Amino acid sequence: MRLYRRESGTPESARLGTIVFIHGFPLTSEIWQPQLGSLPDGWRGIAPDLRGFGQSPLDAAPEEIPTGKRLGGRIARDDEPVLTMASLADDIALLLERESGDRPEHGLSDHGAAVNHGAAVICGLSMGGYVALELWRRHPALVRGLVLADTRAAADDDEGRENRMRMALKARDAGLRPIASAMLPSLLAPETATHDPDLVDRVRRMILDTPVPTLVAALAGMAARHDATRDLPGIRTPTLVIAGEHDAITPPDTARAMADALPDARLAIVQGAGHLANLENPDAFNAALHDFLEELAP
Ligand code: MLT
Repeated sequence: MRLYRRESGTPESARLGTIVFIHGFPLTSEIWQPQLGSLPDGWRGIAPDLRGFGQSPLDAAPEEIPTGKRLGGRIARDDEPVLTMASLADDIALLLERESGDRPEHGLSDHGAAVNHGAAVICGLSMGGYVALELWRRHPALVRGLVLADTRAAADDDEGRENRMRMALKARDAGLRPIASAMLPSLLAPETATHDPDLVDRVRRMILDTPVPTLVAALAGMAARHDATRDLPGIRTPTLVIAGEHDAITPPDTARAMADALPDARLAIVQGAGHLANLENPDAFNAALHDFLEELAP
């Protein structure tokens, strides 16, 4: 399956490397426009629409996944597809393998060190961060650096899974409109909502355009995701952890704890931003990202 993607640069121009941007829920690759539009020279950017989101087809099967004890039923019903974080991570691995084309997957750098030409910096926001961590777990050789933005390593607790179940029920009954109204205040900082009504409208439109089956499939997949907390000390890949100053979903303290648990991490708090830090304060987000890419450059 081929994912729709936005890009900047070409494989030939990726002198310093490639960065893959993975969007959050229930959004699309559109959120990465401010990053794709200003990548430093020598870097190529690829931002796919995850399976079922934006212009990528859902193309997923029902799956029986454990989602917690107190749910009284499954989030995705027997005939509804499920988007596990593992399947979304495998899609990114395939994208990277195709991207490296017939260049050799493994080789020697000028300094004689083993390099993987298919490896990329993986930048995931929120659900995209869950996918990035899963990609590291399943395909570590493809991950040259990690950017974990407005996300967490922990799995859902029972209350979180029940909230997802309620959201799935509401979406089936009433569509995406009440979901968008309920989500927007927690996605954006209060000052963004006041000062940037165009951004609020764009985010609302992305949510409203999400098909109900995709929403339910991703809710079920997120509810069943692996708890990566214990993986963190073993992630030796250089990592940038980013959080919006006013992120109500994954607050700065969550980001700080994640950065502290990672052996090679730096933390950036994006002032004036909420959960969608890359959209709400792109200049500050990009400054942190570009410093990190400069550190990684060969
Ligand atoms: C997201 O922004 O991707 C969501 O807040 C993730 C989640 O619901 O856990």
